[in-house]
Amino acid sequence: MGRAKKVVLAYSGGVDTSVCIPYLKQEWGVTEVITLAADLGQGDELEPIREKALKSGADESLVIDATASFAKDYAFAAIQANALYENRYPLSTALARPLIAKLLVEVAEQQGADAVAHGCTGKGNDQVRFDVAIAALNPALNVLAPAREWGMTREETIAYGEQFGIASPVKKSSPYSIDRNLLGRSIEAGPLEDPWMEADEDIYLLTQAIANTPNQAEYVEIAFEQGIPIGLNGESMNPVALIQSLNQLAGRHGIGRIDMIENRLVGIKSREIYETPALLVLIQAHRELESLTLTSDVTHYKRGIEETYSQLVYNGLWYSPLKQALDAFIQQTQVQVSGTVRLKLHKGNASVVGRKSSNSLYSPSLATYGTGDQFDHKAAEGFIYIWGLPTRIWSQQTRDSH
Ligand code: ARG
Repeated sequence: MGRAKKVVLAYSGGVDTSVCIPYLKQEWGVTEVITLAADLGQGDELEPIREKALKSGADESLVIDATASFAKDYAFAAIQANALYENRYPLSTALARPLIAKLLVEVAEQQGADAVAHGCTGKGNDQVRFDVAIAALNPALNVLAPAREWGMTREETIAYGEQFGIASPVKKSSPYSIDRNLLGRSIEAGPLEDPWMEADEDIYLLTQAIANTPNQAEYVEIAFEQGIPIGLNGESMNPVALIQSLNQLAGRHGIGRIDMIENRLVGIKSREIYETPALLVLIQAHRELESLTLTSDVTHYKRGIEETYSQLVYNGLWYSPLKQALDAFIQQTQVQVSGTVRLKLHKGNASVVGRKSSNSLYSPSLATYGTGDQFDHKAAEGFIYIWGLPTRIWSQQTRDSH
């Protein structure tokens, strides 16, 4: 008895997902495998990938361009949340998984499949993100993860594939494991497994080495409407174009590299390198605009929400009741977050140098140390007396008792 009859498999064109096709049929008795390659702006040619699935034995090979939704519904939502896992990683890979899961479930439902499948191993976060997202979207669907169970080494996997006409990688395969999409690149494994070893310069594709960046600083103005980036340097842009241009602009100045030890959900610490120029600059600019347009209590309270949000997304709970509730909070906070932030890009740094908004809560007449000061200095005295009262009483009490 097989585990499923008709399966929709998330397909990347790599060795693992290609081997999944004959493996599902031969070992697990699946009768029909439909592959689904999602275009999330990874820059791969998708027609060869579509054909490779068929050559590897897929009964049907689908390609879906979801780049626009990825930018608008996933990346921009995360920017509104200023989402940085462990304060650094802007979740560029993590954000793609719930979208791929959604596409898998939609195709499975359209095609009447009884299961979906992915090529994740048992050591990473991505398996969790797929499995939980699929369970949330359609709890009746089975999820198959052959690579989590087959226990083959890389060489064995390649040899298994060759039996079924899956060409082993032509190029001497890279020692790294790389995930790529519109938002950036995640690089791990190989020599990077030594946390003390500096990464080779040639692993980077989206960001220049500081030695090769322009000596001249460059300015960029980012416009936001209700927390959503809508334009660069005065020009309106759709979400995908905006992220692409900003990746180039910031990457050229060496902005957007992250080298970190990260805590995976499955308990493993791993060394990760990221290149996410646009996402980091957008979060920095967005946070600055919030500082200008949100009251202090909302800004401070939102920090805690952002931390929880980032953990939920990292840990695969994109479609979960807590995430939905946090989304509602975040949306409510974004109503006034419109305006423009000006940044200076230079030698690996993006620095905010200006911000403006018609919803600005910054009051020149309250802030000024010059003429026209409207702040009631006298009122400060009474305020401080009451603000400090508990501390004053505590001090008196502890002194008296000695
Ligand atoms: N550690 C990151 C995450 O969990 C990136 C994983 C990227 N995958 C890869 N094959 N390099 O989101």
